[in-house]
Amino acid sequence: MSLILGIESSCDECSASVVRYTPEHCEALSVETFSQIDLHRPYGGVVPEIASRNHLETIIPMIDAALKSAGVTMKDIDAVAVTNRPGLVGALLVGVSAAKSLAYAFGKPLVPVHHLEGHLCSIYLNSPGKPPIERNSLEYPLMTLLVSGGHSQLHAIDTAPELWTPVMLETSRIGRSRDDAAGEAFDKTAKILGLPYPGGRYIDELAKTGDATKYAFPRALPQKDTLDFSFSGLKTAVLNEAQKLENAGRLEEEKPNLCASLQQAIIDALISKMEIAVRRHRSRTLSVVGGVAANSRFRSILNERWKFWGLSSPPIFPSPEFCTDNAAMIAAAGAFRYRQGLAIQGEQLLCLNAFSSGAIAP
Ligand code: KG4
Ligand code: ZN
Repeated sequence: MSLILGIESSCDECSASVVRYTPEHCEALSVETFSQIDLHRPYGGVVPEIASRNHLETIIPMIDAALKSAGVTMKDIDAVAVTNRPGLVGALLVGVSAAKSLAYAFGKPLVPVHHLEGHLCSIYLNSPGKPPIERNSLEYPLMTLLVSGGHSQLHAIDTAPELWTPVMLETSRIGRSRDDAAGEAFDKTAKILGLPYPGGRYIDELAKTGDATKYAFPRALPQKDTLDFSFSGLKTAVLNEAQKLENAGRLEEEKPNLCASLQQAIIDALISKMEIAVRRHRSRTLSVVGGVAANSRFRSILNERWKFWGLSSPPIFPSPEFCTDNAAMIAAAGAFRYRQGLAIQGEQLLCLNAFSSGAIAP
């Protein structure tokens, strides 16, 4: 058993969590998150300077609260895990500096975590009061679609996370977005329609009363030989349609139909590549992680389609609180790397840095 304190500050969520790792379970004992969304909303996107300043104010209260609600102190913690890439460098530095200071002061090992590896690990997390996820019963090969605000990629994963190599994020990736991420497509089209930032959940909501067949928006890259995505054409198509409707004075009444149609275009593009990927890699299990995994229509369509794809069980979605950015997934990823002996300690801590790019090794 190991207790891991996770810290996440890569973008606009300041989060701390205590996770209990055992060979069977990863249980989140606490997750405390301060979302900065309200601070960035007036600007229609994340303002890096505001993000890092706010992380400075909230990081210690989040860590204190996470330890307290888990009923532990720093003395009980076996290792600290922190996101050190990719993300806004000023925001990442706040979490990295807090983690380094805690690890140094309390003589604890520290595990630098890649934010996307955190998302991939979110499916292994048990939340308090929910039925436990038995990690050992999960069948591999696993196909994971990672769809966050900044990334859309497919990962063909062959082993349990305790056996992942340090470069698994690169070696397992079989498809990615060539331009906008799926989350970005939701956010940018929502902005065109005058919906609040971040727009994914507003589109999800409005689409429930709309007709998804009303507007024929493009599904890019239909060729079967690529598992890449492209969403920038959709954004332009929505902009053109919205302008036409605005000129005709009908934009407001058509918003639910526009939302349902554009949401369907994003979902169709994701699902067609997932099906090819699952069949090609003979996947046994499928998971969807990241903020877009919270989309209700996407979940309900996938919960029907998987039956025809040769999978052994229904798709795995993390609990909603683990879809968007949170420190529990960072602690879980940190726990797996800690078990592999990949933590740093003592003087080594001084060299740990934060990186805006995901490609640089720690
Ligand atoms: O994973 P995440 O919290 O952040 C990044 O690491 O980027 O994902 C945020 C993204 C945003 O683009 C947001 O609009 C989208 O997830 N999102 C949704 C929904 N909830 C959040 N997209 C579609 N439907 C939703 N219900
Ligand atoms: Zn994320």
